[in-house]
Amino acid sequence: MSLISKNSYKVLGIETSCDETGIALYDSERGIIADALYSQVELHQRYGGVVPELASRDHIRKTLPLIETVLNKAGLSALDLNGIAYTAGPGLVGALLVGALLGRSIAYGLNIPAIGVHHMEGHLLAALLEQEKPELPFLALLVSGGHTLLIEVAALGVYRVLGQSIDDAVGEAFDKTAKLLGLGYPGGPALARLAEKGNAKRFRFPRPMTDKAHLDFSFSGLKTHAMVTYKALLAQGEDTEQARADIAAAFQEAAVDTLLLKCKRALTQTGLKQLVVAGGVSANSLLRHNLQQFMQQQGGKVFFPRLEYCTDNGAMIAYAGYLRLQAGERAELTVGVKPRWPLNELEAIETQR
Ligand code: KG4
Ligand code: ZN
Repeated sequence: MSLISKNSYKVLGIETSCDETGIALYDSERGIIADALYSQVELHQRYGGVVPELASRDHIRKTLPLIETVLNKAGLSALDLNGIAYTAGPGLVGALLVGALLGRSIAYGLNIPAIGVHHMEGHLLAALLEQEKPELPFLALLVSGGHTLLIEVAALGVYRVLGQSIDDAVGEAFDKTAKLLGLGYPGGPALARLAEKGNAKRFRFPRPMTDKAHLDFSFSGLKTHAMVTYKALLAQGEDTEQARADIAAAFQEAAVDTLLLKCKRALTQTGLKQLVVAGGVSANSLLRHNLQQFMQQQGGKVFFPRLEYCTDNGAMIAYAGYLRLQAGERAELTVGVKPRWPLNELEAIETQR
């Protein structure tokens, strides 16, 4: 017999926007009750980055078995579901289509509603799955492989973009610098590990665009600076683990400092006191530590999702989908995905309280 109340609303979340198949089940009374994640890292590793067609094909292989795993973990059958949420964008078009087509079709077969979720809204709302959560309004820094965004969150679904990257996203800069240092893919976590052994003060990296009053970011110059520094060392015959660690540490410190400076400016401009940080790079220990320290000094507070919900996962999609479904939003029967999808195009989420 199921332990789960018949009155609860249960939403299955499907995330397939890039190189991770993430499935989770959100229960309105108990939160996330089961989840599973399959990472395609091994599949793409030999190519040094994500190969879109391989990603789509692997999502086809993994999504249905993972849905079964999650339902089994929760002790539920598909008939217990009240709704299905899938990532509808932004992301790789083929990869998105796998989750969207499966999610929409299963919902149609079960005669339950479906909803297409914005991947970055999923990241943002993941912070609200924690016990200690921010109150509206708050500032959000979204940092992933494809995006660097500073957002004023006035209400759920009401997102004003204050600043964004004009070139590489910060995660992309981590990945490219890691590749340069021979750390392979995915590079961000590996670079952060190498940086722990490095001396961040040996090289002085720039803090791009921090002398400008606006809140946009540019990280491609930082990656180039790492390349120029590394090449100069190679030319001097210095290619040691320590030298690479020093570059990694200087790069990481510059990237984290830049994010912090822009957050500081955005907090001053908006008068907000709470900051939510989400997306893959929010798993970075130095960023978490420095932002925590800074917000404490300011008498404000910073909120992060737990580590496994910083990087791509199904839980954030299930939860964001639940919020939109309970507000009455529904996906049409025609399946559409948006590889590009500005966050400020979303509708406000009407909460029923
Ligand atoms: O949110 P996410 O899992 O996928 C996207 O939506 O892009 O973010 C992935 C990005 C990658 O660039 C990865 O290198 C970076 O997040 N990342 C990190 C760390 N963990 C993941 N970057 C720096 N430090 C980390 N600990
Ligand atoms: Zn993501």
